[in-house]
Amino acid sequence: MHPETPNTPPLSELAERRLSRRTAMAGGLAAAAGAFFGTAAPAAADAPGGAGGAAAHGPRRRLLGFEPVEPGVADEVVLPDGYEYHVLFPWGHPIVPSGPAFSEDAGNSAADQARQAGDHHDGMWYFPLRGSRSGLLCVNHEATTERLLHTGGEADWTPEKTAKSMAAHGVSVIEVEQGRRGEWRLAESRYARRVTMSTPAEITGPAAGHALMRTGADPEGVRVLGTLNNCASGPTPWHTYLTCEETTNKYFYPGEEAPPAGSPQERYGIGSESPYPWYTTDERFDMRAEPNEYLRFGWVVEVDPFDPESAPKKRTALGRMEHENAVVVRGRRGEAVVYMGDDSQFDYFYKFVGAEPIGRARAHGRSPLDEGTLYVARFEEDGSGAWLPLVHGEPGLTEADGFADQAEVLVYTRLAADAAGATPMDRPEWCTVQPGTGAVFFTCTNNTARTETVNPANPRLDNRYGHIMKIDEHRGPAAEKFDWDVFLLAGDEASGATVPPDQAFGSPDGLWFDADGRLWIQTDGTQPQVDGADQNNQMLAADTRRGDIRRFLVGPPDCEITGITATPDGRSLFVNIQHPGDSGTPEDPRAGSNWPDFSRTGRPRSATIVITREDGGVIGG
Ligand code: FEO
Ligand code: CA
Ligand code: CA
Repeated sequence: MHPETPNTPPLSELAERRLSRRTAMAGGLAAAAGAFFGTAAPAAADAPGGAGGAAAHGPRRRLLGFEPVEPGVADEVVLPDGYEYHVLFPWGHPIVPSGPAFSEDAGNSAADQARQAGDHHDGMWYFPLRGSRSGLLCVNHEATTERLLHTGGEADWTPEKTAKSMAAHGVSVIEVEQGRRGEWRLAESRYARRVTMSTPAEITGPAAGHALMRTGADPEGVRVLGTLNNCASGPTPWHTYLTCEETTNKYFYPGEEAPPAGSPQERYGIGSESPYPWYTTDERFDMRAEPNEYLRFGWVVEVDPFDPESAPKKRTALGRMEHENAVVVRGRRGEAVVYMGDDSQFDYFYKFVGAEPIGRARAHGRSPLDEGTLYVARFEEDGSGAWLPLVHGEPGLTEADGFADQAEVLVYTRLAADAAGATPMDRPEWCTVQPGTGAVFFTCTNNTARTETVNPANPRLDNRYGHIMKIDEHRGPAAEKFDWDVFLLAGDEASGATVPPDQAFGSPDGLWFDADGRLWIQTDGTQPQVDGADQNNQMLAADTRRGDIRRFLVGPPDCEITGITATPDGRSLFVNIQHPGDSGTPEDPRAGSNWPDFSRTGRPRSATIVITREDGGVIGG
């Protein structure tokens, strides 16, 4: 089902052809960084992380100033010496101080939940109100751990449990402020709100009103209740928040028969069951009753945090897939350019280029994200690449190919990208754009299903540890050609990693350049073992120019580290700890972790933490 380059040569030959040429697999990250930036950085270590020192790079300021932490398995968030964290916004915390308090037995109602932090915190962004002292924090709630969300877990499922689960998904908008002693807290705020699976949202762009968008409850195909599986995110230059719908397939039940092989439903991961029992109490999640409802999810959704009355907007021009995050930059003509990954094994990396300058669109009341061209990436073996336009009428995207119009190209983006000849990747997750250079970095988190064929951009069979890619556009973000390289291969020495062994990590997922140019890498999945033991997920910081990488944080058991944003002064860093201890059960909720409350009668909770330095300095510096 997933197209691969035919007659792919063996890994050794690919490695010879591509990796040795520029990134020097055996030379480590420092050599890789040196290759990228035209310097021959020595791999010899004079600093943690095994990187070349200042002498190799001239006077440029060192970006990383902390001593790395060790890998670990503690039930705690571990940070470098001189750093501390505060739990700001755990699951169930009211979105304003006067809201409903959290019940540690998970006894809060659905109505309470709709005024509290949702579960599984993921992407987020800080929008300043008073600079670095107060701001609006938008936080995604990607999913739920139903075993721990309800007293008694999933047993005896009721409409109230469906409603609570739906209310625990979506987005929180909260106002946060720093007190006199530096402590962060939530404020009573006119901006505070929850967006949940029940919030009315609008469908905009080319697919709005299309027959595929219509349902019994919405015969016009322009209005949908809620947003779902809100994974990662991105701010826009016009101060709104993009929240990305990822694994939406698992909420829809097709009936006992799985969709046939080769069907659009199968390509979008609809299986023979839904792990979420919502369909048992709400027909819109039963595909036999509402075959189109699932097509109304899997979009990038725009939320205006400064207008609490505004409806979220599903921007269909950006395509429908398992969206991870969305990074908006300005093209040379002032248009919006949006980079996006589709997180599935053998899926693709995309970008959208707006049709007109952002300012002109907004001056005329148009969204910069409603008109433009969606492209998908093809990575050639020689290190060049092309953005393939997914435009109705292009070869493979005509009526004869099964695409009636542009709306169908967008509703079935994956099928269009298959037809266009995109390069299947090892689960593209987050992307980020480097300040100053415009280079686009993106994570390929892992792909253990790659058992037969590789391509130069995905050079490892059984890719259990993942890698990070780098794209250099030819002439600005809107270019149709680019050069690319493998920035690093994650994992341990045995897996051929290009990271120093003492900073080994696996499954890179979250990825973000801060304003100073530090690259923050967050993990979700298999980590290299230590003494034969599995390790917790982690967050690292890299100075890509020096090839310096250091482990900054290790999370509690079972969690992934995801979501990152900072105050403009860089002195407060917000990070999300998602699903700690989700191996717990209704009978033994603390079996996996008891972070962050450590209450004898409590349960683990996903949470936003805020990290500060004891000396008040910039985080990571
Ligand atoms: Fe929501 Fe692919 O992570
Ligand atoms: Ca992710
Ligand atoms: Ca992930």
